[in-house]
Amino acid sequence: MSNNVAAIRGSVLTYKDDPFLKDLSECMVYESDAIIIMAEGKITDFGPATALKDKVPPGTEVKHYKDCLITAGFIDCHVHYPQTEIIGAFGKQLIDWLNKYTFVAEQSFSDKGHAREVSKVFLQECLRNGTTTSTVYCTVYPQSVDAFFEESEKLGMRNIAGKIMMDRNAPEALTDTPQKGYDETKALIEKWHEKGRQLYCVTPRFAPTSSPEQMEMTGAVWQEHSGTYLQSHISENKGEVAWVNELYPDRAGYLDVYDHYKQLGPRAIYGHGIHLTESELQRCYDSGTAIAHCPTSNLFLGSGLFNVQNAKKAERPVRVGLATDLGAGTSFSILQTLNEAYKVAQMNGYPLSAGHAFYLGTRGTAHALYLEDKIGSIAPGMEADLVVLDLNSTPIIKYRMGYCKDLDETLFVLMTMGDDRATRATYVNGALAYEKDAALA
Ligand code: GUN
Ligand code: ZN
Repeated sequence: MSNNVAAIRGSVLTYKDDPFLKDLSECMVYESDAIIIMAEGKITDFGPATALKDKVPPGTEVKHYKDCLITAGFIDCHVHYPQTEIIGAFGKQLIDWLNKYTFVAEQSFSDKGHAREVSKVFLQECLRNGTTTSTVYCTVYPQSVDAFFEESEKLGMRNIAGKIMMDRNAPEALTDTPQKGYDETKALIEKWHEKGRQLYCVTPRFAPTSSPEQMEMTGAVWQEHSGTYLQSHISENKGEVAWVNELYPDRAGYLDVYDHYKQLGPRAIYGHGIHLTESELQRCYDSGTAIAHCPTSNLFLGSGLFNVQNAKKAERPVRVGLATDLGAGTSFSILQTLNEAYKVAQMNGYPLSAGHAFYLGTRGTAHALYLEDKIGSIAPGMEADLVVLDLNSTPIIKYRMGYCKDLDETLFVLMTMGDDRATRATYVNGALAYEKDAALA
């Protein structure tokens, strides 16, 4: 193989526009036999194999993935890496679950060694599932952010992450103060934002765990550093919404709390948003704020059914990304997350097509993150983060695929029945980062 050049061949699915707003056929690009050439971390060429065969640089082996589908690497819009160790904790809704499991687990992350070990497990699991970018909550401890970004950087991944800020309604060991939160966030931004592929995300956990003073300083530090992200939670659970109304009686509602403290706008991402009102959705759209749809988590904690069709309605299409929200979410697999997104949509009376679903898992989430010019689709100039999905990853999937008549059916079976076993290979920054056969050998 010549220096830093790689080429792969197989069937390819990608998107050039949003099928929630335009006809799917105008948005989706499918090539049944294509070649993708990558160099220096970018895609340099993509097209039908017959046309591209002669463009492959001499000495570059073309790796041919038969019975596979190549897509852009999956993107996870909202996930908590420190909760890797509490996935599947039984029996509670949001606030009890936070107190009983989450706030206990997160305290171990004052130990950087522990944070590094969990970061490694988390990032390997992302790669094993074909997820190449995630928007990540760390913990209140800056060293938990350093450990995460250091491991992400070693793998060449583009990840977005930040230190949680909390100064009330949480155990003492997990709290900072408005000034400390501001200072530590500023120092981490200076250290990590746009260092290689890393991006910083200002991370107030959610309105109930920050005082008005901390909310004020959080808005300020985000506004002072243009290009950085901001993430939090909103309207996940009805009890939580009522609590926010009590804590912030002067505000018109949950979203207005964040609005008041200058925490809405492009690159602000709010997890859940299940119970947002029409006027709140309108405000998300007007301000360019994104919502992370977390179907497995919302079902697991009994939070409710996010209505993706309504959120993206053509008159005011809110940016919506797809997210696992581990450890309330139950799977690292974006395929499994789409499976649950389909069922949630069914409960809302909307049949989410596979074409729309794969958009959400790739370019749709890139768009929610204002990164659609870099990741989430396959085209020359885009960063070379790809997943190769095995269409026959289990005996029963192989059997079922034998009855699929077209691409739409194939994609739908893949997302309904597929999981981590479907990841044949993951490419990050133009290089092979995970290969199933090698992992099994
Ligand atoms: N709201 C505030 N913190 C959290 C969290 O860690 N997980 C979920 N699902 N919701 C939250
Ligand atoms: Zn969350």
